Amino acid sequence: MDYDTSILTIDTNTDQSNILFREPKDTDGSAVFELINRCKPLDVNSMYCNLLQCSHFAQTSIAAERSGEIIGFISGYRLPQQPDTLFVWQVAVDASARGMGLASRMLTTLLQRLGGDIRHLHTSITASNEASWNTFRRLAETLNAPLNSSMMFDRERHFGGAHDSESLVHIGPFNITSQE
Ligand SMILES: CC(C)(COP(=O)(O)OP(=O)(O)OC[C@H]1O[C@@H](n2cnc3c(N)ncnc32)[C@H](O)[C@@H]1OP(=O)(O)O)[C@@H](O)C(=O)NCCC(=O)NCCS
Repeated sequence: MDYDTSILTIDTNTDQSNILFREPKDTDGSAVFELINRCKPLDVNSMYCNLLQCSHFAQTSIAAERSGEIIGFISGYRLPQQPDTLFVWQVAVDASARGMGLASRMLTTLLQRLGGDIRHLHTSITASNEASWNTFRRLAETLNAPLNSSMMFDRERHFGGAHDSESLVHIGPFNITSQE
């Protein structure tokens, strides 16, 4: 299949659900910790880790806020050796806001904010997380970009049998512009 990697502009300006999409700030760390805690099957990290995501990695992360409450969060960072690649660490949407396109909207809004120097996205997904696979398949379709997967962290070799294997999902290349 051929993919058109010409510059793509995604409309992320119109929001009819009163949800604010913004960079996280350090005072969001504890709310993010609570959100992740109620979004099974995500791994819960330390609150300190969430604080770093909301401060050092704020530029490559996004929070969705409704009536002053964080209902969605994506943590991400640029791969240190490949700064044109955004690694999406976790995606979380509160149960009250699922099935309305919020995860998709956060992903495209984040990519739009980062602009044209991001050409690839990596994430990792366990085989059984169908909602996650569908979220990233949808993103690949929106970006009109190929999606490929391979083993990233193996249950036995990397997790010592304590965690399901995580597949590396690679979407890209794509070409996205900020919308004025
Ligand atoms: C996975 C998760 C982030 C999806 O959030 P969401 O806002 O409901 O997702 P969206 O509405 O944007 O849906 C994105 C795509 O995934 C599909 N999808 C969403 N939830 C699904 C589910 N439970 N089962 C199957 N497909 C699902 C949607 O149909 C959509 O695909 P489509 O556009 O082709 O129809 C949310 O369910 C969640 O927080 N789950 C717990 C944490 C988790 O597993 N995170 C994994 C990282 S993605």
